[in-house]
Amino acid sequence: MNVKTLGQFIIEKQADFPYAKGELSRLLRDIGIAAKIVNREVNKAGLVDILGETGETNIQGERVKKLDIYANEQFIAAFKAGGEVCAIASEENDDIIPIDSEISKSAKYVIAMDPLDGSSNIDVNVSVGTIFSVYRRLSLSGPGTLEDFMQRGTEQVAAGYVIYGSSCMLVYTTGKGVNGFTLDPSIGEFCLSHPNMQTPKEGKMYSINEGNYLHFPDGVKKYLKYCQEEDKATNRPYSSRYIGSGVADIHRNLIKGGIYIYPTTTKSPNGKLRLLYECNPLAYLIEQAGGKATTGGKRIMEIPLTELHQRTPLFLGSSSMVDKAMEFMAKYSLEKV
Ligand code: AHG
Ligand code: MN
Ligand code: MN
Repeated sequence: MNVKTLGQFIIEKQADFPYAKGELSRLLRDIGIAAKIVNREVNKAGLVDILGETGETNIQGERVKKLDIYANEQFIAAFKAGGEVCAIASEENDDIIPIDSEISKSAKYVIAMDPLDGSSNIDVNVSVGTIFSVYRRLSLSGPGTLEDFMQRGTEQVAAGYVIYGSSCMLVYTTGKGVNGFTLDPSIGEFCLSHPNMQTPKEGKMYSINEGNYLHFPDGVKKYLKYCQEEDKATNRPYSSRYIGSGVADIHRNLIKGGIYIYPTTTKSPNGKLRLLYECNPLAYLIEQAGGKATTGGKRIMEIPLTELHQRTPLFLGSSSMVDKAMEFMAKYSLEKV
């Protein structure tokens, strides 16, 4: 059998970090476990009505929860039980969750997450995801603090996403390339299916919510027109692809080549996506895969984090496409980025 499981891969890679004691490896294992539990629940999402779970309480007597709250609770429970992080930041919690327990008090890391990305797609059987980002703590001991999270994306020690799609995949980096694992449901293991993922330098797809067109900066409007022009030499027009689950759009573009843009709009003057647990981890992954992630003007991972739920515009994907979009931003919208 020529299969490498996530567990085997992590043990092999442990040798890349001679001074580490395996905490990061165990944290990745914890993420894998929570991902399997959430995947099981996502797979059943459409069954809720016919299983009679329509009321507030399901057949096991448990309260029926929205899937994003369920995912949040599962990941928090896995991190608390694993003992490798001293605090958690989540899109679903206004404040950080410090962990005050015997097993976590010497934990080296903090973790930030978007437990369920693409939540508007849950009810319609379209891919959703989980995004995570790991930092070394800055505080010395005890439960983690808000300051532990106030770091630039360049300080991440690991980041990744889980995509609950037609198959479930875990894609992550620890700064030595990007590897993708597909869940084999028959054995319940994530198996290495996409070793050393690299994104094409040029792509043919652009992903943006064009419904907001009227509110985009001029640089984005002009770049979109560029994407739509006919030009054989550069393979234009590009195709427009937008799922509305950032993880799914970015996963597709990572593999096939493309650009994902969530710019500022007049409604969201700082953009919509969050720096800490959406943009920074996705930026780390795409850079590790040879792509780029910027605000349209600056590198995402160098932006100082001043607020936990801070937003930023995002231009992410194939390096040539991001460069071209930034040229348009510099020419038509520089003062706004
Ligand atoms: P979340 O479900 O965690 O709130 O994130 C949704 C994000 C992102 O995944 C997606 O690309 C984008 O919001 C979609 O936003 P629009 O519906 O405004 O296009
Ligand atoms: Mn999200
Ligand atoms: Mn979310």
